[in-house]
Amino acid sequence: MKRMDATQIKALNTQFKDKDILAVLELLVSHFGTGFCLASSLGLEDQLLTYFFTQLKPMPPVFILDTGRLHKETYDVMSKTQASYNFFYEIYSPNKADLDVFIKEKGMDSFYESLENRKSCCSIRKVEPLSRALKGKKAWVTGLRREQAASRDTLALFEWDSAHDLLKVNPLIEWDFDSVKEAIKKHKIPYNALHDRGYPSIGCEPCTRAIKPGEDLRAGRWWWERADSKECGLHVQKECGLHTQTERFKSKPLNQKGKES
Ligand code: ADX
Ligand code: SF4
Repeated sequence: MKRMDATQIKALNTQFKDKDILAVLELLVSHFGTGFCLASSLGLEDQLLTYFFTQLKPMPPVFILDTGRLHKETYDVMSKTQASYNFFYEIYSPNKADLDVFIKEKGMDSFYESLENRKSCCSIRKVEPLSRALKGKKAWVTGLRREQAASRDTLALFEWDSAHDLLKVNPLIEWDFDSVKEAIKKHKIPYNALHDRGYPSIGCEPCTRAIKPGEDLRAGRWWWERADSKECGLHVQKECGLHTQTERFKSKPLNQKGKES
């Protein structure tokens, strides 16, 4: 899509600052029809946005990056949501050949061993499938909130995603966790059973644990890592380099012991 300049983005942010979710989505419909999409991790935020997507006629696609390592409870809410609102998710799976090489050379759970392995796994299971999911789309909507992490506190409602060359829209940036929970309850939206068991933020099963009272909302994600590395690469701009992880992994053949040669 033709790049929108900073002035156009700023004007959108000013115009929609106090508008509700539906008004933001209707703006996207008026410009792009069904040429935009929602990225859903099936977490609380994305369930709320999915509910609003189901109000749009025709409904634009909602996609899931199925890493193959999600919790059973996550697959359960996927089925329940489809049945409740009568639609089908678009599902994107990792490239099998890349995954096979990675698992063979590094190991199924090698993400515990190093940050590099963890980022390669996220790159193959999430970042590369995301590029496929966004191909041909004019805009994507996410459930990102500023409160979630220090790395997210400068997020804007409308942003230009220079990594994928399309508009990125984050309608929940100003929402706090309790308001999201209340809205889920108010609209009787299905949600992941793990949320009631101490999991405010849910990713892949081996990389997510419940949090303890007083812990940060994302403390259960990649809990063995430092807080400042806790991003999987879905939400970085091109210049950060995370989007090249798969290429980097592919371009450096591994020797028998799994070391880069
Ligand atoms: S992550 O980068 O740490 O994994 P997080 O779980 O906070 O992200 O989710 C932030 C947003 O990224 C979600 O609201 C959703 O829009 C998108 N997202 C995260 N995981 C997925 C997934 N598996 N499939 C589709 N979208 C996802
Ligand atoms: Fe791999 Fe864990 Fe990243 Fe999922 S969250 S893609 S299992 S490293």
